[in-house]
Amino acid sequence: GCPGSRVEEFRAYYAVQLSGGGQVPGACSEAEPGSPAWMDALVAHLDQPLPMTLRLARSKPAVLQDFTRRKLESFSPELSPVPWLPDAYECSDAHYHSAEGQELQAWCRAAHRAGLASFQEISSMLPPILLAPEAHHRVADFCAAPGSKTSQLQDRMLTQAASAGGLREGGGCRLPTGALLANDLDASRARLYLAGRLRHLPAPNVVITTLPAQKLPFSNDFDRVLTDVPCSGDGTLRKEPTIWERWSPHDAISLHRSQLRILRRGLSSLAPGGLLVYSTCSFNPLENEAVVFAALLSSEYEGVPMEVVEPAAVLPSGLRVSPGLTSWRVPAVLARTRKNQLAWDLEWCEPAFESCPEAVLKAGVRATMFPPKPEHHALATQLRRCIRLYPHMMGGGGFFCAMIRHRGACSAPSRALRQGAAESREANPLPMLSVSSPELAELGDFYGLTPVQEDGTWDTDMHICFDGRRLVLVCKAALGVLGHLASEGKHLPRRSRAAGGSAPGAAPLP
Ligand SMILES: C[S@@+](CC[C@H](N)C(=O)[O-])C[C@H]1O[C@@H](n2cnc3c(N)ncnc32)[C@H](O)[C@@H]1O
Repeated sequence: GCPGSRVEEFRAYYAVQLSGGGQVPGACSEAEPGSPAWMDALVAHLDQPLPMTLRLARSKPAVLQDFTRRKLESFSPELSPVPWLPDAYECSDAHYHSAEGQELQAWCRAAHRAGLASFQEISSMLPPILLAPEAHHRVADFCAAPGSKTSQLQDRMLTQAASAGGLREGGGCRLPTGALLANDLDASRARLYLAGRLRHLPAPNVVITTLPAQKLPFSNDFDRVLTDVPCSGDGTLRKEPTIWERWSPHDAISLHRSQLRILRRGLSSLAPGGLLVYSTCSFNPLENEAVVFAALLSSEYEGVPMEVVEPAAVLPSGLRVSPGLTSWRVPAVLARTRKNQLAWDLEWCEPAFESCPEAVLKAGVRATMFPPKPEHHALATQLRRCIRLYPHMMGGGGFFCAMIRHRGACSAPSRALRQGAAESREANPLPMLSVSSPELAELGDFYGLTPVQEDGTWDTDMHICFDGRRLVLVCKAALGVLGHLASEGKHLPRRSRAAGGSAPGAAPLP
């Protein structure tokens, strides 16, 4: 039940934006984005509840995966594999919440609690698929809570480590040797949800921080970066119908600047050859293509070669996507509150920022929100390579993704992070156990292992550390991230910590 007038405002706004900012909405052919028939289909889908979707954890032992798959398949045909993503299953909201769906519901919840599968919206599964991190990669998730994409990234890193190395001597699987930095400004969301999501996965490579993403002190350090930025969220209207009540194009005006700051910091943290995904769950070009274009333009001015990657080769086959927009309009929204209800008049800015009157600038409109000018044609064509997901085309929520590659020649891991591991000893963010410590000897006895290195290294990649509360297994690359943050004066370990973890299959460290 969304207010009809708000739906009409939404329609009017997006009929213009999604048809490429045309002056005459609906002047395009019936099947094209923004046309009346296309908008009807979009709005009709936004009114339908989202299906329940579940992603299978691939890093669990094969026997557990087989068991989970068999159990899920026993709920067929109501629960079925997502056609373009064999590790995901979906079920209509109506069945899931019906009396007949109760057993399925109970089982899915149990599987989620046990970490065998995770509730996750299908469009939100795309960024980790596009990033496809390897086990040795240094990965950063800038806005990570509640952690659905972080846990998908970690699941992939664990799976890659196991498949590359197989079993190691003495039992247990190979663990990732790279690092996964999971950051979110909201400390309580990070603690409650992010750490909670990771609890089910071994995580010796994971570091959780609660810093402003636009200030993360890295440069050219990461092979993979995800900037899944805070957004107006109108792509999630199926899941959160209450967004209708507060929906306004003004949200995009206020969010654009922080989204751009986060993306620019993400790009400067990317190592040459590295890959970044920028994503939102918004339809709004001001939060999407405008942010990507402004960031590409500033990289070009700085002489750093970045480009939007053509996604066709890496998109899961069967997934229907729309290309990014190359043209849109900037709303000059005059927002006001009427009887506690948000009401606003929609006007459009002049097509060029330079002709905007003072009042519009005071309302927060900035030059970076405007579409590319003719002289930026070459850069603008790259925007077509962005990915737009529409609910009526692929069945999930609305979503936007851009894959951006640093075109510089690939380089060895950055000096900062290599030094970080050494500095972490001086800055002491996470004290390592000395080789002569009785605790380490006791651990060795318990697990039948012998520390091999002078500095307490368990094997060549892992350290056992004591974070003041618990013993954690931390890989060197994660210590490098922690050490670098500590050397940059970030508060550690109170605001950052290694998620740590035990070897898969082993009992948690005592
Ligand atoms: C779209 S959500 C991220 C969802 C998450 N990636 C997932 O898949 O579960 C955006 C997140 O950004 C966080 N956030 C907002 N401003 C931030 C900032 N300046 N720096 C870092 N995180 C921020 C919010 O707390 C929120 O958790």
